Amino acid sequence: MKFLWKYLRRYSWILVLNFVGIAGFIIAELGIPSIVAQIVDKGIRNQDVAVMKTMLVYLVIIAICGGIGRVILSFCGARMSSYVVRDIRNDIFKKTQTYSPREYNQFGVSSMITRTNPDAYMLMQFTNMLMRTGLLTPVMIVASFFMVIKTSQNLAMVIIGSLPIIIFSIYLIAKASGPLSRKQQKEMDNLNRITRENITGVRVIRAFRKNKYEENRFSNTSEDYTNVAKKLFKLMAIGQPLFFFILNSAGLFIYWLGANLIDAGSLQVGQLMAFGEYMFHALFSLMLFSNMFMMYPRAKVSADRIEEMLNVQVAIENPLQPIYEGKEDTTLVFDQVSFQYPDGELPVLQNISFEAHKGQTIAFIGSTGSGKSTLINLIPRFYDVSAGNIKVDGVDVRKYDLKTLRQKIGFIPQKALLFSGTIKENIKYGKHDASEAEVVASSKVANAYEFIQDKPQQFEDCIAESGTNVSGGQRQRLSIARAVVRKPEIYIFDDSFSALDFKTDAEVRKNLMRETEDAITLIVAQRVSSIMNADQIIVLNNGTIVGKGTHRELLHSCEIYQEIAKSQLSEKELQL
Ligand SMILES: Nc1ncnc2c1ncn2[C@@H]1O[C@H](COP(=O)(O)OP(=O)(O)OP(=O)(O)O)[C@@H](O)[C@H]1O
Ligand SMILES: [Mg+2]
Repeated sequence: MKFLWKYLRRYSWILVLNFVGIAGFIIAELGIPSIVAQIVDKGIRNQDVAVMKTMLVYLVIIAICGGIGRVILSFCGARMSSYVVRDIRNDIFKKTQTYSPREYNQFGVSSMITRTNPDAYMLMQFTNMLMRTGLLTPVMIVASFFMVIKTSQNLAMVIIGSLPIIIFSIYLIAKASGPLSRKQQKEMDNLNRITRENITGVRVIRAFRKNKYEENRFSNTSEDYTNVAKKLFKLMAIGQPLFFFILNSAGLFIYWLGANLIDAGSLQVGQLMAFGEYMFHALFSLMLFSNMFMMYPRAKVSADRIEEMLNVQVAIENPLQPIYEGKEDTTLVFDQVSFQYPDGELPVLQNISFEAHKGQTIAFIGSTGSGKSTLINLIPRFYDVSAGNIKVDGVDVRKYDLKTLRQKIGFIPQKALLFSGTIKENIKYGKHDASEAEVVASSKVANAYEFIQDKPQQFEDCIAESGTNVSGGQRQRLSIARAVVRKPEIYIFDDSFSALDFKTDAEVRKNLMRETEDAITLIVAQRVSSIMNADQIIVLNNGTIVGKGTHRELLHSCEIYQEIAKSQLSEKELQL
């Protein structure tokens, strides 16, 4: 569990304090029986009031020590576990911010959530246990065995005799619980995934009347989880009674043996009482320690899962010597770019070459699945090219500092996504220090100003999680405003006008034309009318460029473009 140690080490002062707590606790727990033994054997037996008074004073002092020790132990456990889990969660979050889509696919969103929450929570519980009992019990075991042997060697033999049975049982239980824990966390991932899909896909499920099917799917997974959990609980449940059975049997034997020894005059009553206490502490600490052992495999599974997320080699990384500035003014060049998805078998893009300069609009059109989104996703380095290169302002995108590169780009994804928060916050997501005027201006460019004004609280109106309380078209316009406000060098619209009616579409594009005068605009669209005026239209088919030119040129030269255009425009519009 090196992983956890890395975090514990950060708070060495808590560790040190914890040992102070342990000292106080042990002094009290083992000291009190010794004093009581003295009171019985010397004070009461000899009716020596002076000894009794002195011992009572010691008793009070030691009890106070013990009280303070307990408080310190609780404090340290609570502090350490909450600090550790906080740091782990922060580290996971920081790391996931650097993930490229490949890593998201690798883990899956649901598993990432389980690892950030239940797995981290498991480590929090483990840390708490470690601080409270894990560090205390070994010291306690050694100290109480020492006291046991010191008090009566004959009786000590009984305890030592029962040790192998206890240790062997602990070993068996711990060994069985490891694989079960791993399975349990996996089932938890599945449960989370299905719950997520059900919540996010509730409308589709109802529309397709799949409620029953989903119910079964959920209850089957839930049943699987329950079965594993039941097995684990059973295992844990066997442990405790078994232990107490051994403890009580040993106790019974000791009192029987003790009584004989007292009878023979080689042991005193107080000593037997103290012995009973020491034995209880020795064996009880052993049991507590064994609980740690049983929890250990589960915590280890969680730690491994988290570590896997933290140590994964991210596909897209900042270069070692990043470039912070371009060599020339606003250009974009694709040179013989080919691309294959990490898990794909065939190249999705092949030999893509084109150039775009300041002020130009380049449009991409092609059937669904032809590779349009893939192509534009390569510019902000969501993925890296498999062959060829992409240059922005004369520098290969792979050589840029990632933040610098992405700062140049205003990206409006195919699936408009908003965050929970106000409309203003969502727009300012594009530029965190945008002024009020900039927010208003960008909303006007995106033709969103009017509908925002109609909202009860205008820019302060709240957007629900994933933006479900605004319409698809409104969502698209807000995400356009979010990109516009940062005044990027390169605008990328991935089918961002698809949910707008023709009139709004035309208006937004007209506004954008003014806004993007000094930028490069890339538009992916299905509608010919949205891209007719572009400086260059690139027609994609199965990942290759099958036509390149203006609307007019393509109508003559590119058969696929003709087909698309004819299916959408009237003869007059076609201007043939
Ligand atoms: N993450 C991925 N992993 C593997 N293959 C993918 C991935 N995303 C897309 N693809 C495949 O790449 C091809 C191109 O997909 P892409 O999303 O670029 O198409 P598109 O032209 O944007 O389509 P649409 O018009 O429907 O948005 C498709 O065959 C798709 O199945
Ligand atoms: Mg697409």
